Amino acid sequence: MRHTPWLPLLILLAPGCGKSEARSEPAATAVAGTDLTAFQLEHGIGPVTEPIQLGPVDKKLAEEGAEIFTLKCSACHKMAERYVGPPLGEVTVRRSPAFIMNQVLNPEEMYQRHPVVRQLLGEYMTQMPNLALTRDQARQIVEYLRTQASGRPGN
Ligand code: HEC
Repeated sequence: MRHTPWLPLLILLAPGCGKSEARSEPAATAVAGTDLTAFQLEHGIGPVTEPIQLGPVDKKLAEEGAEIFTLKCSACHKMAERYVGPPLGEVTVRRSPAFIMNQVLNPEEMYQRHPVVRQLLGEYMTQMPNLALTRDQARQIVEYLRTQASGRPGN
């Protein structure tokens, strides 16, 4: 037998292949045409600088998130319709957990610098205020919003 069957395996094991190569990119490299890094474009600008790993929905976190949402967010956001701000029922499908947390924790910089949120600002003509929540509270809100999404569960 010739050695050909091993070739794909060797390619997979080759250093610098696939994801490991992407990860070794310096984190501060701006994406062409923007002053943001690839991480910031996908996950937002703010205190959350690593992707958030999600497990199955945590009911306790989600209940805590629901309470905060009612108190702090429902004046401007509904799930299915536009209101003062965009509908959030499917937001965990269109945005990453870190993006949502950065939007909650650092909305000013998001509408000033993030192209997605700048566009939303143009559309909704309102600046989302900083509600001075903690990182834990922002995480609880993400968990609650996951329970509201009918799309790809858990994101
Ligand atoms: C005073 C009204 C107001 C309040 C209160 C408010 N928001 Fe917003 N929100 C907005 C507006 C307007 C936008 C879009 C423009 C912007 O970001 O300024 C927005 C954008 C967002 C986005 C981005 C949506 C998308 O499609 O990417 C998320 C997520 C969000 N808000 C979550 C929240 C959460 C969670 C709370 C409560 C902690 C909250 N907002 C409180 C008005 C508000």
